[in-house]
Amino acid sequence: MALGSDPDETRIVINLDHPSAEERICLAQREWSQRGYGMMAILERDGRRFLGRGGLKYWTRFGETEVGWVLRRDAWGHGYATEAGRACVEWGFANFTLPYLTAMIQPANQRSIRVAERLGLAPLRRDVLDGDPVIVYALERTSPAAE
Ligand SMILES: CC(C)(COP(=O)(O)OP(=O)(O)OC[C@H]1O[C@@H](n2cnc3c(N)ncnc32)[C@H](O)[C@@H]1OP(=O)(O)O)[C@@H](O)C(=O)NCCC(=O)NCCS
Repeated sequence: MALGSDPDETRIVINLDHPSAEERICLAQREWSQRGYGMMAILERDGRRFLGRGGLKYWTRFGETEVGWVLRRDAWGHGYATEAGRACVEWGFANFTLPYLTAMIQPANQRSIRVAERLGLAPLRRDVLDGDPVIVYALERTSPAAE
């Protein structure tokens, strides 16, 4: 719920009310128990302040696993998404038989595209996610950037 409070965040992240947030948490718990991975809170190393959400999400409709990042507006500009994304990529390839990871990004979302590029992801194809056109970025397990 804390993630949907700034207009810059709600362009991408839906502002959830309490029941919907609970549903999302239940979904996340199901994903963790079914696949062994899912979404996580991103916390500041010192102080444990809640910064955002990241992790790995399996998309049944694409048959692909995505690495994701969303930060609270006041946490942008410090490299937290890059740090969390890199940790998720390393953890994902080390622990699961994932041939590649994706990031589905709206073409105008330059900040997210820069995070993907810093992690070594490159454009794979254009697609549509929940009605929005996206560029699907991808990183192969065998890519040097994945090591
Ligand atoms: C996408 C999003 C997470 C990117 O946030 P971000 O702060 O730009 O990304 P990072 O946390 O990796 O920070 C990178 C920025 O911090 C700066 N930075 C400072 N210290 C840094 C460090 N140690 N390492 C890397 N970058 C650092 C970088 O220069 C960069 O700034 P710049 O792009 O202006 O050059 C954020 O814009 C967001 O939450 N958007 C809404 C949700 C969203 O779009 N999610 C993605 C959906 S596909």
